[in-house]
Amino acid sequence: MLTGRRKHFNLIIFICSLHVIFVALPVAGFSLKGCRISRGVAICSESELTAVPHDIPRTVKGIDLKRNKISKLQASDFRDFPVLTELNLQQNKISEIGKGTFSNLISLKTLVLTANRLHKLGDDVFHGLGNLTELRIKANRIKIVTPTTFKSLSSLKRLDISDNYLHPIAKVYEVIQHMPHLQQLNIQKNQLATFYSYVLANRSIELKSLDISQNPIVVFRITANVFPNLKSLTLANLQKTKHKLIWDVRNKTMVGQVSTLDISGLKHAPLDIITKLLQSFNSSLNTLRMNQIPHVPALIRISCTIPTLSKLQLQLNKLRVVRSDLFQLCVNIAEIDLNKNDIESIDDNSFTSLPRLRIVSLSTNKLLSVPTATRNLPRLLELDLSSNKIDTLKCDDFANLTNLRKLYLHQNEISALKDCVFRDLTRLEILKLQSNKISKFNKAFENTLPNLKTLYLHSNALTAIKNGEFSGMWSLQNLSLQINHIKTLEKECFNGLTNLTVIILQTNAITAETLANNSFNLLKNLRRLDLSNNHIQFKNSSPLASPPFSQLSHLNTLALTSQHKRCKGYLPSNLLQGLTNLLDLDIRNMQLISLPKDLLSHTPRLERLDVSANDISYLSSDLFAPIPNLTGLYISNIRLWSLGFLKRANLSKVEFLQMRKNQFSVISEDVIRSLPSLVYLDLEWNSFTCDCDNSWFLKWVQDNNQTQVFNAYDFLCNYPEDLQGMKLLELDIQSCSVDTGFICFTCTTCLIILTLVTSFTYHFLKGQLTYAYYIFSAWLFDTKKRNKQVPNQYDAFVSYNTLDEPWVCRELLPKLEGEQGWRLCLHHRDFQPGRPIIENITDAIYGSKKTICVISRRYLNSEWCSREMQVASFRLFDEQKDVLILVFLEEIPTYLLSPYYRMRKLLKKQTYLSWPRAGEHTEVFWEKLRQALMTGEGPADERLQLALVDRP
Ligand SMILES: *[C@@H]1O[C@H](CO)[C@@H](O)[C@H](O)[C@H]1NC(C)=O
Ligand SMILES: *[C@@H]1O[C@H](CO)[C@@H](O)[C@H](O)[C@H]1NC(C)=O
Ligand SMILES: *[C@@H]1O[C@H](CO)[C@@H](O)[C@H](O)[C@H]1NC(C)=O
Ligand SMILES: *[C@@H]1O[C@H](CO)[C@@H](O)[C@H](O)[C@H]1NC(C)=O
Ligand SMILES: *[C@@H]1O[C@H](CO)[C@@H](O)[C@H](O)[C@H]1NC(C)=O
Repeated sequence: MLTGRRKHFNLIIFICSLHVIFVALPVAGFSLKGCRISRGVAICSESELTAVPHDIPRTVKGIDLKRNKISKLQASDFRDFPVLTELNLQQNKISEIGKGTFSNLISLKTLVLTANRLHKLGDDVFHGLGNLTELRIKANRIKIVTPTTFKSLSSLKRLDISDNYLHPIAKVYEVIQHMPHLQQLNIQKNQLATFYSYVLANRSIELKSLDISQNPIVVFRITANVFPNLKSLTLANLQKTKHKLIWDVRNKTMVGQVSTLDISGLKHAPLDIITKLLQSFNSSLNTLRMNQIPHVPALIRISCTIPTLSKLQLQLNKLRVVRSDLFQLCVNIAEIDLNKNDIESIDDNSFTSLPRLRIVSLSTNKLLSVPTATRNLPRLLELDLSSNKIDTLKCDDFANLTNLRKLYLHQNEISALKDCVFRDLTRLEILKLQSNKISKFNKAFENTLPNLKTLYLHSNALTAIKNGEFSGMWSLQNLSLQINHIKTLEKECFNGLTNLTVIILQTNAITAETLANNSFNLLKNLRRLDLSNNHIQFKNSSPLASPPFSQLSHLNTLALTSQHKRCKGYLPSNLLQGLTNLLDLDIRNMQLISLPKDLLSHTPRLERLDVSANDISYLSSDLFAPIPNLTGLYISNIRLWSLGFLKRANLSKVEFLQMRKNQFSVISEDVIRSLPSLVYLDLEWNSFTCDCDNSWFLKWVQDNNQTQVFNAYDFLCNYPEDLQGMKLLELDIQSCSVDTGFICFTCTTCLIILTLVTSFTYHFLKGQLTYAYYIFSAWLFDTKKRNKQVPNQYDAFVSYNTLDEPWVCRELLPKLEGEQGWRLCLHHRDFQPGRPIIENITDAIYGSKKTICVISRRYLNSEWCSREMQVASFRLFDEQKDVLILVFLEEIPTYLLSPYYRMRKLLKKQTYLSWPRAGEHTEVFWEKLRQALMTGEGPADERLQLALVDRP
């Protein structure tokens, strides 16, 4: 529909812009199919794309296309990206790369083609990538490369071509021969059976790191000094077959620079071969990995004779028991990694002969207690005992570890601590105790650990933090207490934590009463407080006697997201008092039904506000008045009907606006104009009205070059019914702007005549005129409805002003729906999004047996509310039934009602209920309302309600 016209339009634009094309090319305008731009990077991952989208702006620095279904790359895909440095095409189905695909990507530095279906790479496929430094092409099916395939990659430093079908080794030479600066080469998991240096034509290369693991290598032969700079060599899991490995390194100086060697999984090599292998490195080796390998004790003895060796990794060797002589010769070892060895016991003196030992890792074993062997190592810096079965900590477990900086005890079964456990750890900086069963500290953190900066206690069984339990940890900066059952935070429980900047208390049982202790006010330097997912609920929005965060003037981030509760939630108006430096407030999903107008008056610096997933439905522009620096606003899923507040609020700095899943259906020009800094607009999962009301928005989405509208191509029409399910951007808006000249002429003429007639009529027929209009529109809808015969879906439709919603939700709804069992229709809940309001109203009125009008001054002032009443009252006369029930929420003097001609007329004949007059006797009020709702159900009580209250 639109595309033909667009093409034409684009052609004109193209011709016009030819003049300026060399001066500045604008960023293409602005909604992308399947992509969004974030910080200069086009993120198009996981979008089911089958081809590279052609609308990505040429100014992007990165394109992320991972996890799509692209099967072919061709020259037109990346025609013009002069500043693109990173391109990620991982996990697609690419089996073909056309000639010249990358020719224009002169700035590209990183190209990722991992996990595709490439089988053959033709001549010079990487043409143009002269600046590329990293190529990852792992996990394809590459078997065929030609001598010129990689010809253009002269700047390449890192190449990962592992997990392919390359063989023999001469193929690898073809791959790397044009890369004089290659430093890292990974050819893991190919099909190389031999590794000969002579195929490299005895030319030395700069390579620093070579990984040939998981190849079925039988012969490893280095006869020339081809790797003068090689530092890291990985030979893990060589040999799939039982062929004996032939290790032939002629002269030790040929591998003389290697400092890191991995020979893990070398299963079929006899001890003498491995001995020979290790001896080739005995002048330079620093780190040796021997995971999952036979002959471990012997290999440890051999390797510990290498004088330069300091790090030993010995994972997955099923050691079970560590004997005291195992490391006897390892006098130079500083770091031992014994993770994943099923170790149950360690002889007491196992580490005493290692005077240089600094780091011991014993994670993922079967230790039942902290081994005695790790005590009394005053030089030890790091001890990892995580993922064992330790259930208690004894006083001497960490005795004399006075230099320890990091202690990891997470994922054990520790249930209680003691006051003496950490007493010697005066230099400790990081202590990880998460994922245990700790329920009590027993003074373990009182007056100990003066240098501790980070303490992880999450995922334990804590229920309370008592006064002074952290005293003495005056260096502590990060404390994680999430996922416990903490309900009590005593008033002085954080005493001493004056340096604390981050505390995470997410997923506990904290309530509003817990906060009333004001325990946070001791954390004077706190920057981030996370109280998400607790049980904090306030009964109303009246101010608290002592606001819980009033002393946290350094706090930047406060999260109160997702509080568990059954009933509607409120926030006290002074909850945020004192947070003068708050930048980020997250109050998502708190079942809030309103926000106090002055909630944010205490947080003048706020930059990011998230109130999504609440029941607010109405936002006041006053809320935003105190926060001029707001840049990110998240108001998704809050049943928002109108965007009027955006026009009135000053949101001139807002750059990011997320309004997913709401109930507005039209976006007008003045709403967008009120957001001059907007660069990103997310409107996913809204339903739109597909008519000329949105034509300005539609045009703006496609043409503006400042604001990106996320995923606009997927926006759907919900109204009118015949367009339901159509894409909004496919709407033909041509008819919305017909020949302007003619229109102007016609309009002016009509206008003049109309003005004459109107002023004449108005002068003489004032009051009756509006009446006539409403009667006419009501009659129009009524006729339509009667023909349709909508069955009564509801007992009553409640017509009210949004500002009276608290009364409706708190008083009316629980009474009538909860106690009396009527089915009510409320607009914020039951209206179909996207339809024009007047249609929703008529349907609601005709689909309900009665209409309850909740009348207040605000109601009378609201235009569409009174239209609701017009429709209902028309039905009243038309059907000769009492369908209208008037509930006055406040006393309104008769003279104020005079403009409401019809209402006055109704009041004379009808009865009504008055909430203020019900006073204390609300029961009588509700009973009368019940009776009013009942009338008309049977013929007997047809006029019962006339006996209710009469106007004096
Ligand atoms: C590398 O990039 C620079 C600018 O980013 C460009 O001028 C140069 O031509 C590129 N080099 C090659 C070999 O493509
Ligand atoms: C090993 O190579 C170095 C340098 O290339 C040389 O000086 C030395 O003589 C060689 N040693 C043997 C035993 O060939
Ligand atoms: C700590 O070291 C001191 C001095 O070397 C020693 O006397 C003491 O027994 C050690 N403590 C423990 C519990 O081993
Ligand atoms: C905060 O920690 C530093 C050292 O980490 C310490 O010098 C300072 O005294 C601490 N501040 C307070 C108020 O305790
Ligand atoms: C808003 O930001 C500007 C510039 O960053 C700053 O000067 C001003 O003080 C901020 N206003 C408030 C109320 O924090």
